[in-house]
Amino acid sequence: LRVETLRQAEDKPSPEDGDVLQLKKGNFNRALRKNKQLLVHFYVPLSGEGHRISAAFEGAAAELQGSEVKLAVVDVAKEKDLAKELNVTGLATIRLYLAGDKHNPVTCPAPHTSASILAWLKRRAGSAADLIADLSQSESSEELTVVGFFKELDHEYVQVFYDAAVDLPDVNFAVTQNNEVITKYGLTHDVVLLLKQSKLIQAYKMTPQTSKEMLIVFITVYQMDPVTEYTGQTATQILSSPVLNHALLFVNKSSAAFKEIHSAFNGAAESYRLKILFVWVDVDEPRNGRMMEYFRVRSFEAPLIRLVNLTDHVTYHLPSDTLDVHTIKAFCQSYLEGEAKPKMQSQPIPEGWDQRPVKELVGMTLEKVGFNPDKTVFVLFYLPYSAASRALFPLWEELAEALKGREDVVVARIDASANDINMSVQGGYPSLCLFPALYAERVRNTPVLLFCLMESDEDRRKYIEAAKAEEAKKANQSKDEL
Ligand SMILES: *[C@@H]1O[C@H](CO)[C@@H](O)[C@H](O)[C@H]1NC(C)=O
Ligand SMILES: *[C@@H]1O[C@H](CO)[C@@H](O)[C@H](O)[C@H]1NC(C)=O
Ligand SMILES: *[C@@H]1O[C@H](CO)[C@@H](O)[C@H](O)[C@H]1NC(C)=O
Ligand SMILES: *[C@@H]1O[C@H](CO)[C@@H](O)[C@H](O)[C@H]1NC(C)=O
Ligand SMILES: *[C@@H]1O[C@H](CO)[C@@H](O)[C@H](O)[C@H]1NC(C)=O
Repeated sequence: LRVETLRQAEDKPSPEDGDVLQLKKGNFNRALRKNKQLLVHFYVPLSGEGHRISAAFEGAAAELQGSEVKLAVVDVAKEKDLAKELNVTGLATIRLYLAGDKHNPVTCPAPHTSASILAWLKRRAGSAADLIADLSQSESSEELTVVGFFKELDHEYVQVFYDAAVDLPDVNFAVTQNNEVITKYGLTHDVVLLLKQSKLIQAYKMTPQTSKEMLIVFITVYQMDPVTEYTGQTATQILSSPVLNHALLFVNKSSAAFKEIHSAFNGAAESYRLKILFVWVDVDEPRNGRMMEYFRVRSFEAPLIRLVNLTDHVTYHLPSDTLDVHTIKAFCQSYLEGEAKPKMQSQPIPEGWDQRPVKELVGMTLEKVGFNPDKTVFVLFYLPYSAASRALFPLWEELAEALKGREDVVVARIDASANDINMSVQGGYPSLCLFPALYAERVRNTPVLLFCLMESDEDRRKYIEAAKAEEAKKANQSKDEL
């Protein structure tokens, strides 16, 4: 037994012996004292980003063995007291503690790979002169290279450039003073070039007003293609973009119209590069379900375009049937000029909404009116800008007029572009949905929220069967009562 215990003790590496230290309240201060540079990842277990960073940490720790830098992790979920004491807030916080100073750590940008950690540490400790490079290699690289061409290396432009390099450790940076480069690209001095496979993507002229932040926006925007597909891989890049206005195209990639709409979206994107980030979402991809839920977009509504202001999280809906370059640009322009109308959960209840034969519903009144057990309610879900929707208006007036005398029937309509329709309507707009009085109570509690004329036959059959079962049950109850 003793041998066994001993062996277990030997096998189990002490947390302080591994490449990456696991720190707790009990050993944090000791690690701080012992290491001149302590890079700590405060992580939340099971988060996707935390996982990626942990892998990058392992790789970097192996490279940094024997150096002055020690890597460590703190499980924030377990070490709540320690996190609080160190003022750690938010996910994926990475800090470099220097010379045992607990109070003034340097924040490290969330790295993608171990190489980005190493690049950050190196750039942080170095100077712009370290970036002087022979460009022939980076010019042909598949990855983006940011090249600073400066007349004098001690100019303040160079410091701004270098500071941006420290903050973007995932990006290759180089400095050159080679006049051939200037001639080759036909430029003047003090310019920042973005190169990819020998192609000049964009150039940025440094001015005395250029700040590190401006340069970072320029680089991170042009690092991405004009239009990006939203996927698990691109989500982080999209959400960490400094551009806080996003245009989102929801479209079915397998649909016949995809190519044309994507091309129009792309055509509009170029004009708004630094102002609006253009992203498209494939509604045919089940993994995008949560994204669509968040923006309350249903696949049958595609193709559609939303603009979202990530500062106040207000969304705007492009009010048009045609999605061409012209309408997309006009929408972006009106949004930037503050003239677009936000998409609301509910419009205000219109004055006299129930006075005319056709009742005017909004998000707030839809459920209350629809699920009235005493009334059968027939609702037209329409888009005001769609000709197909508007074509139904006269019919709807006529129907409402004809049923005016029926106390138990309500004919209504709702603008689906201005109100969030948070029930299971299926099919496209315009959509005609019937909420039968008899089943109002029961319908509310079943997965098929409402009986809709545009629903699939499958759903309709399920609904009818459920209704029949309900009637049978009621009949049984009255039999029992008898
Ligand atoms: C955390 O914040 C408080 C209040 O700002 C400050 O007094 C304290 O020194 C901070 N702790 C650390 C470790 O910096
Ligand atoms: C996308 O389009 C394809 C081809 O028309 C179709 O089969 C598929 O059901 C559509 N997907 C969605 C979610 O509408
Ligand atoms: C986005 O929201 C912020 C905060 O409300 C606001 O200051 C800004 O003007 C908005 N941007 C646009 C383009 O509407
Ligand atoms: C649907 O939206 C309306 C308006 O915002 C709200 O009053 C209602 O509670 C919502 N219903 C559900 C089921 O979320
Ligand atoms: C109604 O009662 C009959 C006989 O009592 C039973 O076989 C049947 O399953 C019941 N139906 C329902 C829907 O409860």
